[in-house]
Amino acid sequence: MKKPKNIVIFVSGNGSNMSNLITHFEGRTDGNIEAVFSNKKECLGIENAQKMGVNTVVFSKQELEEGNVAELVQLLNADLIVLAGFLLKIPKEFTSQFENKIVNVHPSLLPKFGGKGMYGRHVHQAVIEASETKSGISFHYVNENYDEGNLIAQFECSIDPTDTIEDLQKKIQELERKHFPEVLEKLIAQ
Ligand code: GAR
Repeated sequence: MKKPKNIVIFVSGNGSNMSNLITHFEGRTDGNIEAVFSNKKECLGIENAQKMGVNTVVFSKQELEEGNVAELVQLLNADLIVLAGFLLKIPKEFTSQFENKIVNVHPSLLPKFGGKGMYGRHVHQAVIEASETKSGISFHYVNENYDEGNLIAQFECSIDPTDTIEDLQKKIQELERKHFPEVLEKLIAQ
């Protein structure tokens, strides 16, 4: 029987996608959530990962930049590194060690509304302010530039003229909840 692929998840905040992924891969034979990494000691993501019985690693920006985090990820034999609401830039030394193994989800239809400062609610606000009629989520490989790596998949939702930032956020969360597990399943099956 094939060994399950090792998945590590990076979070900086609530980690609701992380929780969904941990639940999804529980007891499966194709993938295993090996650890959750975070640059925030106090975030809900880390708290929930611990409650769900997954190993956690908290690190500083300096440790990320100096290569200690990449070293640890190598030691864990990670097959896939998943950024699920992770807000620090991944340095080039890290991305070059894990080419096409780091995946990010971004809450817009890239290349629109990506780049530095574009995360979470800020993205939805910019989309609403631009009077867009649709938005969505983008899964992409991570390179050294924010939100610029090759696209893996995109999923859309429509925006009604009366939609608020919160309404759009809810639609995006629903898309992420539905599609994140299936996208990872396909990647680890390759
Ligand atoms: C998600 O909507 C994700 O797409 C977004 O942060 C949210 C994290 O939610 N990521 C970015 O904006 C990255 N630029 P969660 O912590 O509850 O999973």
